[in-house]
Amino acid sequence: MSPTILTALNLHKAYGPIQAVRGVDLHIQRGEIFGLLGPNGAGKTTLLHMLTGLIPPDQGEILFNGHLFTPEAMSLKATIGLVPQELALYPTLSAWDNLIFFGRIYGLRGRTLRHRVEAVLDLVSLRDRARDPIQTYSGGMKRRINIAAGLLHQPDILFLDEPTVGVDPQSRNAIFEAVEALNREGLTILYTTHYMEEAQRLCHRVAIMDEGRIIALDTPRRLIQEMGEGFIRVGVPADQQQAFVQHITPLMGVHDVIRQDGHLLVRLQEPLRTLPAIFQIATTHRIPITTLQILEPDLETVFLQLTGKALRE
Ligand SMILES: Nc1ncnc2c1ncn2[C@@H]1O[C@H](COP(=O)(O)OP(=O)(O)OP(=O)(O)O)[C@@H](O)[C@H]1O
Ligand SMILES: [Mg+2]
Repeated sequence: MSPTILTALNLHKAYGPIQAVRGVDLHIQRGEIFGLLGPNGAGKTTLLHMLTGLIPPDQGEILFNGHLFTPEAMSLKATIGLVPQELALYPTLSAWDNLIFFGRIYGLRGRTLRHRVEAVLDLVSLRDRARDPIQTYSGGMKRRINIAAGLLHQPDILFLDEPTVGVDPQSRNAIFEAVEALNREGLTILYTTHYMEEAQRLCHRVAIMDEGRIIALDTPRRLIQEMGEGFIRVGVPADQQQAFVQHITPLMGVHDVIRQDGHLLVRLQEPLRTLPAIFQIATTHRIPITTLQILEPDLETVFLQLTGKALRE
């Protein structure tokens, strides 16, 4: 069987004047956890909705296992599981009844259906709460039931759209563990998030998306090695920041300066070589440096490097 489970070629989608996705190519390998990382509005959900057949692309093609995915290709939909960003559970029904309901939509019946419901409840570690109404669940537990619903029909590929937003730490861990366990059993997972530490922990490969395009794609380690280095975070009193930026910008080795949370992120060719000159400028102009930190290279600094903006504002 082909190692590529999903291929997307030159996908485009606009909502009126908004170009949400502008020419995306993707090749997802069977058995990988693939991360789609990007800030709010990058086009992640729109891309996912095209890949799962919820909305048609304006342009471009999608192939599953080499077969063209069209609205008529219903059999291919059976191989796809989608856990949407928005929750879709009935609050007054129990988790058990919600899952039975979704299972019937997928065409499951009788004992097979009950066994699948038990299996997915185990996977998200919520079998002991199965008879309680959904409205008594925490946000994170609801998300876990949502994930369970996407797995009832045993898809080959699971799409998770920001599964950990607004989730308590316990549920977050349960979600990570479920994702890792499912993947060990061979499930291919496309995981959308704007938390770079999640992508770093879970994903074999990561695509960074911004303004409707994929701007980098590789293993987290290679992205970080190639592009994550060279940032320092400097604290300077607010009324002196502008002067400080003006003085350091012309220095050799200073690429650019980004403002973030009241601090300045300075991108340097080689921090250790340029730092003394920065200190010198601060002393000469009597600008106190209140904090200084060399940033650990990670996917966040990769994103800064690529776009000049912070992933989370
Ligand atoms: N149904 C819609 N109608 C009009 N515009 C839309 C619609 N859905 C998305 N958009 C716009 O398309 C762009 C991409 O949105 P999308 O939801 O795909 O981004 P996202 O990366 O999933 O963001 P988030 O991290 O906030 O979930 C945004 O500018 C958004 O406002
Ligand atoms: Mg989204």
